[in-house]
Amino acid sequence: MTRIAVVYHSGFGHTKAIAEHVVRGAAGAPGARVDLISVDELPAPGPDRAYGGKWPLLDQADAIVFGTPTYMGNISGPFKMFMDATSAVWFQQKWKDKIAAGFTNSGSLSGDKVNTLHGLMTFAAQHQMIWVSQGVWPSAYTGDGKGLNRLGGWSGLITQADQGPADKTPGPEDRATAEAFGRRIAEAAARWARGKPA
Ligand SMILES: Cc1cc2nc3c(=O)[nH]c(=O)nc-3n(C[C@H](O)[C@H](O)[C@H](O)COP(=O)(O)O)c2cc1C
Repeated sequence: MTRIAVVYHSGFGHTKAIAEHVVRGAAGAPGARVDLISVDELPAPGPDRAYGGKWPLLDQADAIVFGTPTYMGNISGPFKMFMDATSAVWFQQKWKDKIAAGFTNSGSLSGDKVNTLHGLMTFAAQHQMIWVSQGVWPSAYTGDGKGLNRLGGWSGLITQADQGPADKTPGPEDRATAEAFGRRIAEAAARWARGKPA
């Protein structure tokens, strides 16, 4: 079994909707078990540095996927709180050599969200994780009319929501891209776990 954890923050549900599609895609890979975890379920450790809530699920995961909306051209405040709360994990390098990947959703087509994604990538590198990229050809190149990776992300999954409810936007192309991305992470994690030295 390969375990994948998808950790996200979402103020208004749009990033959560994408997270759910990443989960669906990952869960479609053979032998995958996927946990969807909101940062609200990951309380910062107290003075004893004990990690409660759903933190143990992250330690048990082969792959952790990080998802945040882009707020003010950057990682959202609540997601950054989660990142900072990992410092004791970092000190012990407990996530070293786990697979990592990231996604962000924003209101504008660009919205400076690549900056957000690169913040997640640096965060994963600080934990000495193995970053997996987007993996879906942008629709500008495929011209197949499916609109997969329509925003042309490479370092991770980028999606865009219009002003509207989270069950409508982001649209079907972004949701399908999220599923392909989730599947890629789960398959990469399985491959990586298989080749682990004894
Ligand atoms: C505080 C705040 C800052 C935002 N900053 C940006 C931004 O820099 N770029 C952008 O394209 N959209 C920005 N947006 C729009 C959100 O990224 C967009 O509404 C997104 O779908 C919200 O995702 P969520 O529902 O998961 O919170 C901002 C929204 C808020 C509330």
